[in-house]
Amino acid sequence: MTSATFDFSPLLPAGLPAPAAKWTGLAKYSFVGGNNDPDQVPVEGLIHSMTAVLEREGTTLATYGLASGPQGYHALREFLSAKLKRDAGIHCVAEDILLVSGSLQALDLVNATLLARGDTVIIERDTYQGALTRLARLGVNAVGIPLDHEGMRMDALATALADLKRRGVTPKYIYTIPTVQNPTGTIMPEARRTELLKLSEQYGVPIFEDDCYADLIWDGRRPPALHAMSRNGNVIHIGSFSKSIAPALRVGFIVAPWAMLSRMLALKTDAGSGALEQMVLAEYCTPHFTSHVPKLTRGLRTKLDTLMEALNEQFGTSAEFEEPKGGIFLWVKLPDQVDTLKLYQSALSAGVAINPGPEWSTDKAHAGSRLRLCFASPSHQQIREGIALLAEVCRKEFGVPARSANVEKRA
Ligand SMILES: Cc1ncc(COP(=O)(O)O)c(C=O)c1O
Repeated sequence: MTSATFDFSPLLPAGLPAPAAKWTGLAKYSFVGGNNDPDQVPVEGLIHSMTAVLEREGTTLATYGLASGPQGYHALREFLSAKLKRDAGIHCVAEDILLVSGSLQALDLVNATLLARGDTVIIERDTYQGALTRLARLGVNAVGIPLDHEGMRMDALATALADLKRRGVTPKYIYTIPTVQNPTGTIMPEARRTELLKLSEQYGVPIFEDDCYADLIWDGRRPPALHAMSRNGNVIHIGSFSKSIAPALRVGFIVAPWAMLSRMLALKTDAGSGALEQMVLAEYCTPHFTSHVPKLTRGLRTKLDTLMEALNEQFGTSAEFEEPKGGIFLWVKLPDQVDTLKLYQSALSAGVAINPGPEWSTDKAHAGSRLRLCFASPSHQQIREGIALLAEVCRKEFGVPARSANVEKRA
């Protein structure tokens, strides 16, 4: 390690985020993050694809952007335009797509293009932490809209839009994860999508559609994307290969009108996202994506079953949850006396990592006794053992659950 003798701190500009914590490794029982199932990464297929594409086109690595221009590898954008049409009803061509370094970069580019300090955006009340932290850092006011089993509630959205209008505030966008919402796992039905688009048109507020879990649906059926249903091109659509193939590849994409893409391209100053990843994905996905995804979702579904069984066995009625329609997360409500920010600390000391609810919500009190569990990355055995340990830690600290595996316990 470099010896730290020079003091950089007086040089740091104001407004930097707090320093990052040093990584200390994954917890023994890790239910955090959007990590995927290690057994479901198509390693063999990726190896073959990598070899084939490098043999054929390896020399194009000599150019920034593989001679496909700043929007990213053309063959991958071609794959995406066909896939988005087939699965989500989106009619777009390769020129409408910008490949980025994970959909996190998509969030950054959309935000950098549209937002200024003091702006307001509308967002689902329980939502992706990465979206919330970005908005907080930008000094943007995030108005949370409650959800039900069909996603963002339109009555609450209509009220919020009317309230804001009365106060002279026009939100910059409505951010939604309509197809397997993070963290609640809901899918917004087509009728509600129509209502959402109507409100967005009525108030002149565009929609920012984050569809990164849309491939992971148990029955494989999804409503058309908001982007596909929009009549006036007021939807920016983003997606990712993180959840369907592998998050470490860091490949995501944006579909938007050129008026927006051209602004985002001007802000994307990294001279292109990782090219090798884009080449391998195009080579692998074009022939294999449609057979890979059902295998992946079948495996994820069995892990969800294991998690729900383990929670029922260890927490009984103390753990409430709605069965998600797909994805990799379960959003769990524990009794009100459980403070999941505290539970997070003590569980971590015992080797169990969970995501505490308040970090995933605009309403910290509502989410205070909630937690998010990722069931994709732990094994079935780790899920069972980890949940048993979590119940033990929770009982010691908060007195619930009183019974585990039908055995009465003393706190
Ligand atoms: C809703 C949502 N959007 C975006 C991301 C970012 O994913 P990536 O940058 O890996 O594409 C995540 C990751 O978990 C997410 O849950």
